[in-house]
Amino acid sequence: MITVRIERPEDYPIVRKINAIAFERPNEADLVDALRRRGAALLSLVGEKDGRVVGHILFSPVAIRSGQQEFPAVGLAPMAVLPNYQGHGIGKALVQTGLEQLKQAGHGLVVVLGHKNYYPRFGFRPARPLGIEYQTGIPDEYFLVAELLPGALSGVHGQVHFQPEFSAV
Ligand SMILES: CC(C)(COP(=O)(O)OP(=O)(O)OC[C@H]1O[C@@H](n2cnc3c(N)ncnc32)[C@H](O)[C@@H]1OP(=O)(O)O)[C@@H](O)C(=O)NCCC(=O)NCCS
Repeated sequence: MITVRIERPEDYPIVRKINAIAFERPNEADLVDALRRRGAALLSLVGEKDGRVVGHILFSPVAIRSGQQEFPAVGLAPMAVLPNYQGHGIGKALVQTGLEQLKQAGHGLVVVLGHKNYYPRFGFRPARPLGIEYQTGIPDEYFLVAELLPGALSGVHGQVHFQPEFSAV
């Protein structure tokens, strides 16, 4: 059985391990630790398979800036599932639960830099045609936005800025 719950301090070591193994490098594990340390992790969830923590997802605040205007949004990153447990819906459960909890908390927009064939199933679509830009050089179909609350995209445009810790990844 797959369950998703809020991460607890005792999960930190296994979450670190999951990120390091899934991404085959320490960068994302370091990012998660750094965001937590500064209190910049908005929502951190773990996915359990039969009671064992095997997946993790983190959401942090992002700013969409255009001149003097700033629109708040949430960034999905990173997400990781242990290789042996991938392809069994744990990622799906993490994304769906995360988006639902964010929506309940009143967050209207979530952005993600990720697999173009994976995230559209959760309501994400290319952000750039909507006027929401990320770094140059990234093809449109990889930077996506999901509107959690109706109308949240209305009038929103500009450049997306993740938390400063992301620039070290
Ligand atoms: C991406 C990841 C979290 C998905 O977790 P999961 O539990 O395997 O996800 P699910 O079982 O819900 O969904 C599996 C789907 O993801 C797709 N998928 C997994 N990894 C993928 C990749 N690197 N590129 C494209 N699609 C991928 C699978 O093809 C499958 O698609 P399908 O349902 O159309 O067959 C997991 O594969 C992972 O940890 N990957 C390594 C780290 C990573 O790349 N994280 C994402 C950063 S945005």
